[in-house]
Amino acid sequence: MEEFKISAKIQVYDYNELNPVEKKLIDDAKEAVQRAYVPYSHFQVGAAVLLANREIITGNNQENVAFPSGLCAERTTLFYANARFPDTAVDTIAIAAYTHGDFTEEPITPCGACRQVILEAQNRYKHPVKIMLYGKKAIYVVEQITDLLPLAFGSFDKG
Ligand code: THU
Repeated sequence: MEEFKISAKIQVYDYNELNPVEKKLIDDAKEAVQRAYVPYSHFQVGAAVLLANREIITGNNQENVAFPSGLCAERTTLFYANARFPDTAVDTIAIAAYTHGDFTEEPITPCGACRQVILEAQNRYKHPVKIMLYGKKAIYVVEQITDLLPLAFGSFDKG
């Protein structure tokens, strides 16, 4: 029997350590929570996607009375970005969540389905997608989605 281990690099940042573009992405993700449609969970998630053409697209989660028909902030925003700019690589996605009157202390991390969709963008444009996860305590930065979805089906880079 052989075994191998998989490790992921997660960088932990304070907001003040970020560069101006990164700060703006976090600010935009935080701002986007205001437009989330969350009558069922009351859990507002905002996302900001930076494209290779420097355009920033924001979005948020959209819920539905038939629960599976709703969509997470990450997928809403990525699909919209790809719908607007089909030929432009996705560079970074920043995510923030707001509930019970405040942003979460800990960063929230994308669900499995969103990780798969982020991976599709990374593979589609052959460009690593950086992920920034906002929490009041810390901001996690992951350099490419393969760190959050190891051994993924359809991965071009096994890291
Ligand atoms: N949600 C997101 O939008 N993104 C995540 O990363 C986690 C969960 C949404 C789905 C649902 O509308 C609400 O948060 C509660 O799960």
